[in-house]
Amino acid sequence: MLLTEIDHIAIAVHDLDQAISFYETAFGASVVHREVVENDGVEEALIKVAESYIQLTAATREDSPVAKFLAKRGEGLHHVGYRVDDCAAAISSMVAAGATPIDAEPRPGSRGTTVAFIHPKGACGTLIELVQE
Ligand code: CO
Repeated sequence: MLLTEIDHIAIAVHDLDQAISFYETAFGASVVHREVVENDGVEEALIKVAESYIQLTAATREDSPVAKFLAKRGEGLHHVGYRVDDCAAAISSMVAAGATPIDAEPRPGSRGTTVAFIHPKGACGTLIELVQE
């Protein structure tokens, strides 16, 4: 078994502050990490739940994938992050199983992680992010 934890559930939102406020009010949640990821054109806020995170994600520019997702589908579940010990090995294993990587090689993610995205087509319709801490 290559997966060690559900790393995060990423939810695309229009207004990050409003979404944080909702989670604070609804769940008594607090943000443990907030980061702009320039490469991906997003700003993320992480809420820790046990050893996993809820990742509220807003677009920082019009041409980011999250902006396109929001324009097309509105707010909602964007991707699931699966924690792994070895991101490169997990990509290889997924490719061998018939999946198509968006990132053929591991790359830097938020909070100092190493990540790779796998296309939903060939992966049960789910955008998967492999996350190595
Ligand atoms: Co993510």
